Amino acid sequence: MKLIIEENAEKVADFAARYVARKIAEASEKKKFFVLGLPTGSTPLGMYKKLIEFYKEGMISFEMVKTFNMDEYVDLPRDHPESYHSFMFDNFFRHIDIQPANIHILNGNTGDHEKECAEYEKKILEAGGIDLFIGGIGPDGHIAFNEPGSSLASRTRIKTLNEDTIQANARFFGGDLSKVPTQALTVGVQTVMDAREVMILITGSHKALALHQAIECGVSHMCTVSAMQMHPCATFVADEDATLEL
Ligand code: GLP
Repeated sequence: MKLIIEENAEKVADFAARYVARKIAEASEKKKFFVLGLPTGSTPLGMYKKLIEFYKEGMISFEMVKTFNMDEYVDLPRDHPESYHSFMFDNFFRHIDIQPANIHILNGNTGDHEKECAEYEKKILEAGGIDLFIGGIGPDGHIAFNEPGSSLASRTRIKTLNEDTIQANARFFGGDLSKVPTQALTVGVQTVMDAREVMILITGSHKALALHQAIECGVSHMCTVSAMQMHPCATFVADEDATLEL
């Protein structure tokens, strides 16, 4: 496991975007699809912005990219402004040349969550597995929606969100806790571990304790991102504020 410390959030975004762009370019040169696992949340926004810039400057194309998003709320209409579908299209997909058929986002509105999750795992396998999974973390160290207590062997499934996560996400729903969905479909910890490479982005002093628990304490299902300590090719990219507890 590697830790890269950048001065601030903008430099974390720049590092991540350049890394992703280079990996895509390398795969495209070999005429191979690059399979990316992608997060939502405020942390990756800067990276998405830079990748869009690179695309607009002609430095990169997403024609040979397939994506799998980490998670999606249950029973929130796909076109709701806070659905992860809307988030990804508004902040990234709408602005680049990715082919719609190559975008995969869990559907939290099927009614048959088990089938949807099993099919998602199957689609990842059919795509040849994920080359690079990028993630953010919650202040309690959760990755995707693998809340504290999730099995480290978990795969894509439905999860009930805990109180802290609902509170942290209320800012996106006008601060109204009652509007935040209480369940989500999420890739499992093992789904992320199966990626050939994992990159976790962490910014801000409010994530400092989570980073300490993630990389300096033992592997624990109470801090699910800590499982990445056991991944053969995992990198944490943090800004200086996030390293205050190291
Ligand atoms: C949610 C998402 C996570 C994300 C986390 C932190 O819980 N499911 O994937 O990492 O929020 O979000 P932010 O980057 O906004 O702090």
